[in-house]
Amino acid sequence: MIELRDVTFRWPGEAVLLQHISLHVRRGEKLVLLGANGCGKSTLLKLMNGLLEPEQGSVLWQGEPVTRAALRQKQRAVAFRRNCVLLFQHPEAMLFNPTVRDELAYGPRQLGLPDVDARVGKWADELGLTPLLDKPPFLLSGGQKQKLALGCLLALDPELFLLDEPTASLDPATVGWLVDTLVESDKTMVIATHNLSLAAELGERCIVLGLQGQILFDGPLRMALSGVSLLESAGLTHRHKHRHGKLAHAHVHAHDWD
Ligand SMILES: Nc1ncnc2c1ncn2[C@@H]1O[C@H](COP(=O)(O)OP(=O)(O)OP(=O)(O)O)[C@@H](O)[C@H]1O
Ligand SMILES: [Mg+2]
Repeated sequence: MIELRDVTFRWPGEAVLLQHISLHVRRGEKLVLLGANGCGKSTLLKLMNGLLEPEQGSVLWQGEPVTRAALRQKQRAVAFRRNCVLLFQHPEAMLFNPTVRDELAYGPRQLGLPDVDARVGKWADELGLTPLLDKPPFLLSGGQKQKLALGCLLALDPELFLLDEPTASLDPATVGWLVDTLVESDKTMVIATHNLSLAAELGERCIVLGLQGQILFDGPLRMALSGVSLLESAGLTHRHKHRHGKLAHAHVHAHDWD
């Protein structure tokens, strides 16, 4: 579905952020991307979505290079934008229409998809946004904005979802709905998170990004989550004090449920 070949990337004027990243996501796979704050997860998703170009190496979508030049060809751009969608970590970045209804309809309309009103109705309903359809998106709560941004992607019925911290602002019931919707679907997904409890629910495979922008691990999620030294070297464990009455002791935690 999507492939990165020896990708190196740096933001202008900065040190190298991602180095020699090679990975392959197959159709139907659910890949969880784990890594500490600032290691480059969001940047990697933007590279996969063709919003950034690597300094070296290449990104391939169904075997074809994703470059600015390729995305200037209208037919290629429409096929790519319809099928490879990115949920931004900060969903405000995606919302700009006057109403929730227009926001949900925007993508399908731009891409010339059929049944725009039915798509809007279905996803507004699933996400509990129907009472908000005439409201301006900027007046929604943080969690409602995240649901709306997700609805905009679901309305396109794409092949590949790139989801950047998709549950960050969602309440437990909506997280449950999302996990079921994602896990039960046959869609391909790459989900970036540093929430290890959530990761365990989501995928079978995981990639752990290190603090030097390299792939530390690519393999079964369960194996990564049980490897405390791997998680420690990726900056994904925390150490804090426990208080038992008057006694306190500190030890390393990898999972929220430990
Ligand atoms: N537009 C930008 N210009 C310059 N530097 C940037 C830009 N966006 C991100 N960075 C830098 O790139 C690095 C990686 O950022 P990125 O957002 O990819 O990390 P992340 O792994 O998603 O972190 P988090 O877990 O906090 O979401 C950070 O040091 C950040 O400051
Ligand atoms: Mg991020």
